[in-house]
Amino acid sequence: MPLETEARAELRALVADFKPNDGKLMAALHRVQHRYGYISREALEVIAEQLEMFPAHVYGAASFYDEYRLEPPPQTTIRWCSGPACRLENANGIRDAMLATLGLEELGDRTEDGRVEVVNGQCNGACEQAPMVWVERPMEHSRRVVGKLTAASAIRMARGLRDGEAFEEGHETVF
Ligand code: FES
Repeated sequence: MPLETEARAELRALVADFKPNDGKLMAALHRVQHRYGYISREALEVIAEQLEMFPAHVYGAASFYDEYRLEPPPQTTIRWCSGPACRLENANGIRDAMLATLGLEELGDRTEDGRVEVVNGQCNGACEQAPMVWVERPMEHSRRVVGKLTAASAIRMARGLRDGEAFEEGHETVF
């Protein structure tokens, strides 16, 4: 039986209302990720105990879906829109400019200090802002659209985020 640390007790309380065999594995994973920004190994164990499942089964489900993180999130995620309207407006140029500024090779990479990542995103209807990205702070559950980017403004934005510029929620196209 693992040591009952304060963190473990908090996790246990967080998922205490889920019962074995009630089909709520995804809901339990979602709740933990919403609270901590990711699902730690300890959280996987606690969920497995609570639902009376094998830890490998819980891990398999969490690692199968892209929406679940198994590592702490970066401070900032830049979600680059790969949709058609953005591509028509030089989204690829925006992507390449951001990656080069941050010293990253491809989407999914993080900066050396782990603070900023750039990931692939899909159109969710903000096409009038094309080309655009979402700038997300996973631990703060906040996200904003930064739209009508040019290569130059994408570079300025990426530099600002890399250098820890303050994040103002809901503020659009400021770079
Ligand atoms: S295509 Fe980028 S927001 Fe719609």
